[in-house]
Amino acid sequence: MAMNAAFLGLLRLLLLLLPSSLHDYLGDQGVGQQLQAHYPILLQGGFGCSVLEARLTDAYTPSLPRCGALKGKGWFPLWNSTVDLVNHHYMPCFEEQMSLVFDPATNGFKNQHGVETRVPNFGSVYGFSYKDDTCPFCCNVRLRNELQAIGYRDGDNLFGAPYDIRHAPPRPGQYSEVYTEYFARVKDLVQHASEKNGNKPVIFIGHSFGGRLILDFVNSTPLQWRKKYIKHLVLLSPTPHTGFMDVITNFIEGPRVLRFPNVPYLDLRKMWWSFTSSLLSLPSSMAFGQEPIIITKHRNYSAYDYPEFFAAIGFSLKGVSPLTKLPPLTDMRVEAPMVPLTILNGVGIETTKQVVFWDGNFDVSPELVYGDGDGVVNLNSVLAFTKELEKQQVSENILFKFIKIPNVTHGDITIQDHSLRIVLAEIAEANS
Ligand SMILES: *[C@@H]1O[C@H](CO)[C@@H](O)[C@H](O)[C@H]1NC(C)=O
Ligand SMILES: *[C@@H]1O[C@H](CO)[C@@H](O)[C@H](O)[C@H]1NC(C)=O
Ligand SMILES: *[C@@H]1O[C@H](CO)[C@@H](O)[C@H](O)[C@H]1NC(C)=O
Repeated sequence: MAMNAAFLGLLRLLLLLLPSSLHDYLGDQGVGQQLQAHYPILLQGGFGCSVLEARLTDAYTPSLPRCGALKGKGWFPLWNSTVDLVNHHYMPCFEEQMSLVFDPATNGFKNQHGVETRVPNFGSVYGFSYKDDTCPFCCNVRLRNELQAIGYRDGDNLFGAPYDIRHAPPRPGQYSEVYTEYFARVKDLVQHASEKNGNKPVIFIGHSFGGRLILDFVNSTPLQWRKKYIKHLVLLSPTPHTGFMDVITNFIEGPRVLRFPNVPYLDLRKMWWSFTSSLLSLPSSMAFGQEPIIITKHRNYSAYDYPEFFAAIGFSLKGVSPLTKLPPLTDMRVEAPMVPLTILNGVGIETTKQVVFWDGNFDVSPELVYGDGDGVVNLNSVLAFTKELEKQQVSENILFKFIKIPNVTHGDITIQDHSLRIVLAEIAEANS
C-alpha cells in the first residue's frame, strides 16, 4: 500500500514533466485525490525574497524628521515593496533603517539604535515573495505551485524558513547572534515538519542564497541529527562558497540585486556595505586563483588582493576595518553536508568574469568581460565548488549529483519550462 502511494505520487510528479497542455489534461483526471506528496519539503527562496518588518522605538533618532514618522506606530514592512518605498519617498529612511552598525562589544553587526526588526511568516513557504509585480514566478512561486498541484500544503508538508537578508551566516570560528537564533528555529521547524509527517525525513530545496543557507545550516547540525531528519538536499543555483564576480560588481556599484525602480544603485552602496551578506561569496582564490578580476590602468587585483582593493575603493564603515567582514583569505573551506545532495545549475549564459575600470574611477560602471556561467554565478566557481563537495561525499559513499542545465539563467531555473522539468524530475527522484 505504502509503495503504491509513493508510486502514484511519483507518477503524478512525472506527469508534470509532460508539456503543459498534456499535463493539464492528465493531471486532474483519474489519478485524482489518492495521490499524495511523500516526504515533507522545506523550500527556501533566494536573496531578497524574504520580507523584513521594522518597528521604531523612542530611542530612534532619525537623521531626517520624516524618517521618524512611524515612530511608536508598531511593526511596518520595511522590505516588502520597492515600489511603495519609492512612491512614498521613503528611500533615505529605508537606507538608514535597514543599515547595520558594527558593535565592538560583540564584534558583530546589529540594527541602528531604536530600530527593531523581524522576519514575518517564519515556517511558511509564503514567507518568500518578489518585491514588485514584474516577476510573478520569481522567488520559487512557480515551483511552489507545482508542488501544491501534487498535494503539498503550506504548514502541513511544505514549509519555508525566511531569513534576514542583511546578515551572513558565520564563518568557521565566528559567532553570529542572528544565525545562532535562526539555525535553532530552522532545526525546530525541521523536527516539527518530520513529526507532523509520520517521522519522515525532510527534503530541503533552496534557490541561490537560500541554497547556500541550507548548506550552512546542515553543516551546523550534528551528523546524527542530519541522518535522522534529512532525506535529501536539492540546491538550485546555490551561491557557492567559492564565490562569484557579481559580489564584486554589487559591492562597487551598489546592490543591483535589490532592483529599485529609478533609484541609482550607487545611492544604496553605503547601506549595502553595512550588510554582512554583501561579502559572503567574494570570489575566492580557490576558484579564481591569481587571475586579475578587477582591472585598472595601473594595477590589477586578484582574489589575493582584497585588502588593497578595499582601500582603493574607499570602503569604510565607522569603526570597522573592512577585514572584520572578510574571512581569513587562506581559510576558504567547502564542507560537504554528508547527506544525499543534488545540485542543479544553469550554464551557457554570459557571466561577468572581470570588471575593467580603465581610469581607476570606481564610481562609474565598469566595462565587463564575460565568461561562462548562469549570468550571476561563474561556472569555474561552480565546478571548483562541486568538485570539492563530490570528493567529500563520494569518499563516504554518499550520493552526490551535479546537473548542468544549458541555456538557463540564475533566476530562471525554476521558471523556464525546460529547466523546471529537470528540477521536478530531480525532486521526484529525491522523493521516491
Ligand atoms: C507585502 O506586500 C504585498 C503586496 O503589496 C502585500 O500583499 C503583503 O501583505 C505584504 N506583506 C507584509 C508581510 O507586509
Ligand atoms: C591587467 O590584466 C590585463 C588582463 O589580463 C593585462 O592585459 C594587463 O597587462 C594587466 N595590467 C597590469 C598593470 O598588470
Ligand atoms: C536559449 O534560451 C533563449 C530564451 O529562452 C532562446 O530564445 C534561445 O533560442 C535558446 N538558445 C539555445 C541555444 O537553446
